Amino acid sequence: MTRSDNYPRPLVLLHWLVFAAAALAVAAIEIKGFFPKGSPERAQMTLWHESFGLAVLLLMTLRLMVRASVKVPPLPPGPRWMELSAQAMHWLLYLLMLAMPVLGVLALAWSGKPVPFFGASWTLPLTVDVPLGRSLKNIHEAGANLVFAAVGLHAAAALWHQFVLKDGLLRRMK
Ligand code: HEM
Ligand code: HEM
Repeated sequence: MTRSDNYPRPLVLLHWLVFAAAALAVAAIEIKGFFPKGSPERAQMTLWHESFGLAVLLLMTLRLMVRASVKVPPLPPGPRWMELSAQAMHWLLYLLMLAMPVLGVLALAWSGKPVPFFGASWTLPLTVDVPLGRSLKNIHEAGANLVFAAVGLHAAAALWHQFVLKDGLLRRMK
């Protein structure tokens, strides 16, 4: 494979920054569970979850703008089902990485809570509707399972290419 088979550098950087921000958001909300209810550590973990989650939204928006303005390499040759499933998975990942933070932000706003971002915070001009906020929070939490499944399958496919098919696919994102 040559450099022209690779994703352009800015997209590679943004791919791994989104991964890092999403991983930190998930780590924070999982670690939160180890602290007792009402503790400052628990509140801090929630703030970090929300801040890193919002960072995912900002990075994804930038990534979509960059992607629309550069040439991406065609998918490597392979059976049609593989091409279609890779494409479907990529668009599902884009959708989830945008929808999850938006649902999280709206869940907070409709519950009358401020939206934090690493020390700063905003109150969105929405009329408080606690039941709606709670429904969005439930959808957000259910969506998290879809994120785990999609990212797990996507990473497993990348590793399958790398170590079983040995077609150097991982290098396209390096
Ligand atoms: C890609 C970004 C995000 C991912 C992958 C994600 C994932 C998760 C996960 C795994 C949970 C725990 C679910 C459970 O306990 O069943 C959760 C809860 C939550 N998330 Fe997110 N989230 C993201 C972004 C955000 C953002 C941007 C906000 C708000 C600004 C937010 C607000 C919340 C809230 C309020 C909860 C409930 C916390 C609790 O009551 O324990 N999330 N999220
Ligand atoms: C939050 C986690 C992740 C998200 C949201 C994500 C999302 C994506 C998306 C949307 C693409 C398509 C790029 C495009 O066409 O614009 C992609 C490609 C790729 N991802 Fe991920 N990814 C994640 C984690 C990972 C991990 C953990 C690995 C490695 C184990 C990985 C390896 C790759 C590779 C190798 C490609 C290029 C595939 C190709 O050449 O067609 N990704 N990723």
